[in-house]
Amino acid sequence: MNVSDSILKRRSIRKFQSIPVAKEVLEKLVSLGRLYASAANAQPVRFAIVNKKENCDVVFENLNWAMFLPDFTIEEKSRPTAYILLLSEKEKSSFFEFDAGAAATTVMLAAEEEGLSSCCLKIPRQDEMKKVLGLEGYVPVYAIALGQGAIQSTVIPREESQKYSVDPQGNFIVPKFRTEEVLIWSDCK
Ligand SMILES: Cc1cc2nc3c(=O)[nH]c(=O)nc-3n(C[C@H](O)[C@H](O)[C@H](O)COP(=O)(O)O)c2cc1C
Repeated sequence: MNVSDSILKRRSIRKFQSIPVAKEVLEKLVSLGRLYASAANAQPVRFAIVNKKENCDVVFENLNWAMFLPDFTIEEKSRPTAYILLLSEKEKSSFFEFDAGAAATTVMLAAEEEGLSSCCLKIPRQDEMKKVLGLEGYVPVYAIALGQGAIQSTVIPREESQKYSVDPQGNFIVPKFRTEEVLIWSDCK
């Protein structure tokens, strides 16, 4: 799979098959993820791998899933089977958000190449996660949910709303602007 294929294939997937992700694959994703472009090369992002079922459950319970779909639920058997957490040290560098975005994208595109689906989620409730996983001294800011996808997600041209939806089969439909709507200036002939 080349980079363009990974970019085209990557969509946020929120339901997974109950197939574990190999430790070696997760470590490879971190090893690639650490190479993100970083402001002043400060590299403020730290990574944590969550692979054990009981720890995955703690992460799952402390995330908010699909805010645009109030009726959306994920059965226990369809939960992500692993996570890579992106953490900052207590003193957050001013470029942390940009750098975390670059790191998350790197991990998610590499995951596609490994045949894994992903979803990046903001961590709204950090306290229990920090305590149970023993992450004191760090702030878990984003979680990248990982696993073998159990549903599809398709991009459609965005009209009025940015809100994604699900079709009758439970697959996601994600509106995105067309190229000519986001490309606002060019001096190419
Ligand atoms: C910084 C960030 C935070 C996100 N937080 C959540 C979240 O809390 N819950 C969720 O279900 N999806 C979350 N998402 C996924 C977005 O909803 C998703 O990227 C968006 O709908 C576009 O879909 P796509 O990733 O398939 O292109 C987040 C994405 C980003 C980049």
